[in-house]
Amino acid sequence: MVNILHIDSSPRGERSHSRELSKEFVSSWKAAHPEDAIAYRDLGRHPVPHVNEAWIAAAFSPPETHTSELTEAIRISDELIDEFLAADRYVFGVPMYNLNIPSTFKAYIDQIVRANRTFAVEAQGFRGLVEGKKAVIITARGSDFSATSPFAAYDFQEPYLRAIFGFIGITDIQFINANSLDEGDARTQSLSEARAAIQDLITQW
Ligand SMILES: Cc1cc2nc3c(=O)[nH]c(=O)nc-3n(C[C@H](O)[C@H](O)[C@H](O)COP(=O)(O)O)c2cc1C
Repeated sequence: MVNILHIDSSPRGERSHSRELSKEFVSSWKAAHPEDAIAYRDLGRHPVPHVNEAWIAAAFSPPETHTSELTEAIRISDELIDEFLAADRYVFGVPMYNLNIPSTFKAYIDQIVRANRTFAVEAQGFRGLVEGKKAVIITARGSDFSATSPFAAYDFQEPYLRAIFGFIGITDIQFINANSLDEGDARTQSLSEARAAIQDLITQW
């Protein structure tokens, strides 16, 4: 049995393409693997807090020195990390906002990328502690950022997500990028390509 953590980050509901596609991935996966457990977090509708001064003080000091205020400052981070580490695999639905990820997803990343929990600081440098996991990241973009597009170099979303999840140890990441979703006719084709990629990945993941 595999534990999957499914996260959406669009603030949109029915209109959201990333939400629709990530749901399609997870329901197809569940149909093929009914024994697997799926936890769900909706950052679009229920954002997590930004880190603040108390959070930083707590995250970078030994737990045994924490006052009750510092313990409380990282309580949500601890809960999010516990949930994150309990999963074997991840499915993320992520809109492109201003060439990158929505701030809700960034706030989540800031909560879970934490020294001694998801990465270690060692004499030789940083080491990711989240080993042996896989991720599928389904992105939704209004314009075309595919490799042959003139805008390819402006895709700061996939490179950033590869870098930050790689930093904590997750390097097995499959991207399904639905481009051109605000471009009329191109949208239909892009959505059908994304759906085909989802079905392909279900058989191989
Ligand atoms: C605040 C905001 C910023 C956006 N920035 C970009 C962008 O930089 N590039 C792009 O191609 N589309 C951009 N879009 C369009 C969205 O990526 C597109 O509508 C996508 O489908 C949103 O995901 P969703 O359908 O899951 O809500 C932006 C949309 C919003 C609301």
